[in-house]
Amino acid sequence: METTNQSLKPLTTKINENGNLEIGGCDLVDLAEKYGTPLYVVDEYTLRAVCNDYKNAFKKYPKVNMMYASKALCNMGISSILSNEGFGFDVVSSGEIYTVFKAGVDMSKVLFNGNNKSFDELSLALKLGVGRISVDNFFELSLLDEIAKSYGKTADILLRITPGIECHTHEYIQTGHLDSKFGFDLTQIDEAVELIINNYKNLRLHGLHAHIGSQIFETSIYGDEIEILIKEIARIDEKFGLKLDEINAGGGLGVKYTDNDCPPSVYTIADIMINRLNECVEKYNIEPPALFIEPGRSIISTAGVTLYTLGSSKQVPKGKTYFAVDGGMADNARPSMYGAEYFAQVANKPDYELSTSVTIAGRFCESGDILIKDIKLPDLEEGDILCVYNTGAYNYSMSSNYNRVQKPAMVLVNNSQSDIIVNRETLEDLIAHDEIPQRLRK
Ligand code: LLP
Repeated sequence: METTNQSLKPLTTKINENGNLEIGGCDLVDLAEKYGTPLYVVDEYTLRAVCNDYKNAFKKYPKVNMMYASKALCNMGISSILSNEGFGFDVVSSGEIYTVFKAGVDMSKVLFNGNNKSFDELSLALKLGVGRISVDNFFELSLLDEIAKSYGKTADILLRITPGIECHTHEYIQTGHLDSKFGFDLTQIDEAVELIINNYKNLRLHGLHAHIGSQIFETSIYGDEIEILIKEIARIDEKFGLKLDEINAGGGLGVKYTDNDCPPSVYTIADIMINRLNECVEKYNIEPPALFIEPGRSIISTAGVTLYTLGSSKQVPKGKTYFAVDGGMADNARPSMYGAEYFAQVANKPDYELSTSVTIAGRFCESGDILIKDIKLPDLEEGDILCVYNTGAYNYSMSSNYNRVQKPAMVLVNNSQSDIIVNRETLEDLIAHDEIPQRLRK
């Protein structure tokens, strides 16, 4: 069965009676006019559909827990939808912890990840009652034990391990290979467990955690990852008599940015993980552990699009035709950072005949600020509204104020209604943290 991550566009995308694209029952040209561009648009129906994909696909394993990886897109509106869908949260900073806390999330369903969590961040996590902390390294074990002791608390932890699995994705977003900066090497696990048992009395170890990478299209590696986690749990039980009852397999499932991408369905991944889990429970003779997964991109990417207004254009003699939009690498760093490819349509000309290829340039002062290379679009004019698909994940969350440009607004659309969930930054917001030292003032 096809799942939402395999769709190029939000599920509610269609051409309406005005001849324009609409999403969530909202005309994209009207949205651009009402809220301005660039504009991030999130389709609530698509977001809830993918949550259901995950819940249905994994329901065969009763002890499963979905944790949304907030790093893909974190704000209070999105957090409250995911919390309402029954998801927990993977967070990686004070900012993400505070956002989900303020959104009213049940903090016992939050897991704090990261390879260099600070004293202040770990303290905040304990203070706000974050359910699990995935400890990444020896330094953090000792730091967290000390902080937990000073609060008179016991920290509930997982150990992040590096399973030694290489996935075929962009090298910047591989994480599970052996010389990764994340987690304990398999050969270091015993030392960490010994330290927890003998020295760190304020830590309670519940299980193991791994994450192999992102935008992954391979399927069998999820089974291999599960086997490594189970095998280690069984080994720890045998060697230390310590029964761990949680495994967290991270995120990573890919999405369809262009027609060339064929990500597997959530059902395929779920079946591979659950079958291997059941097999391994038998093989290694352990009690079935609780399974945690933490998808980010595959939850939020497809639900999101970005609207831009087309401005200037340039025909290089005997070269490319460039059209520039009013956003670019500051609201979507992925093309310039990873060479990521995107698909787009013109919201006010969705069914016009496609003409020659154009290159969509951003408005930022760098030659590398190209959003889409060589895409076939209809004849373009200044003022056309471009809809770039699959921008829900790692766009707003990686956005910057480069060139001192304000970050765009984000609207949630559903049933013909649109609501702001992130306000557009103002010029005042941009200077809000600046100070001119007294001695420089005239
Ligand atoms: N869990 C952990 C521990 C992670 O490090 C990540 C992503 C996830 C879960 C969620 O993975 P996902 O399901 O989203 O693939 N900025 C890059 C992606 C970096 C992913 C970092 N870790 C990009 O734009 O492609």
